[in-house]
Amino acid sequence: MALRLTTARAGLIARKAGPSMQVRALSSAGDLKVEKKAEKIKHFKIYRYDPENKAKPTMVDFPVNMNECGPMVLDALIKIKNEQDASLTFRRSCREGICGSCAMNIDGSNTLACLAHIDDKPTTVIYPLPHMHVVKDLVPDMNNFYRQYASIKPWLHRNAPNTDGKENLQSKEDRAKLDGMYECILCACCSTACPSYWWNSEKYLGPAVLQQAFRWIDDSRDEATKERLEALDDTFKLFRCHTIMNCSKTCPKHLNPGKAIAKIKNRVLSMH
Ligand code: SF4
Ligand code: SF4
Ligand code: FES
Repeated sequence: MALRLTTARAGLIARKAGPSMQVRALSSAGDLKVEKKAEKIKHFKIYRYDPENKAKPTMVDFPVNMNECGPMVLDALIKIKNEQDASLTFRRSCREGICGSCAMNIDGSNTLACLAHIDDKPTTVIYPLPHMHVVKDLVPDMNNFYRQYASIKPWLHRNAPNTDGKENLQSKEDRAKLDGMYECILCACCSTACPSYWWNSEKYLGPAVLQQAFRWIDDSRDEATKERLEALDDTFKLFRCHTIMNCSKTCPKHLNPGKAIAKIKNRVLSMH
């Protein structure tokens, strides 16, 4: 196809055409040629499981043209769902590493699909978070995880409510102690990378929940520190952690739950 257009108009068409089209303006004659870029196919092998069809889980291959896809694994999943199989099921909301809902196992590592760049390898393999019951496809059952989170009473405990209507203030130094913990988005990447959690997830609280517990133990405004430490003084709840540190290695927010657990252990042991 040859059109007579200005260079500026050609640029506008190029932007509207999207990444799959290459638009070239020939400035000498004012001719415009629109050519389709060669496809750049990458394969996504994705775990599929639907409890309603009573079949065993399978891995399904989805080829995706990278010239028409955004840069993140979540972009590819959304594209596959939109264009190839609307039944593909996964959680996502914020697409910027804040909600924690798109956690999954990508090429062997637990991470957030929205923060995982698509690499240049021919195939990417995607499973749900490991050792969790699967609701459907990439959606794990998070009920036990949330129950455990609720069990640590994750809110500020004060012996008496403030009567002066003021906030519970803390020094800058005390506030800084919460850095590296308050950023946790409860994605469960760490807990589901922990071998101790795999084998004892009903009784061991796991790194995500233990780090949250320490977030309150170390909060200068909280007045239930002793009760919180006593509640964690348990062979299974806390001491199933064997300091393997898979948790800190995998955290997509670069937090260090293994370190928080070590600090809880020290505080609990110092009470004895
Ligand atoms: S350090 Fe503890 S919580 Fe972290 S992976 Fe190892 S055993 Fe699990
Ligand atoms: S510590 Fe990291 S990996 Fe674990 S739940 Fe929080 S954000 Fe996710
Ligand atoms: S979509 Fe919210 S963390 Fe990925």
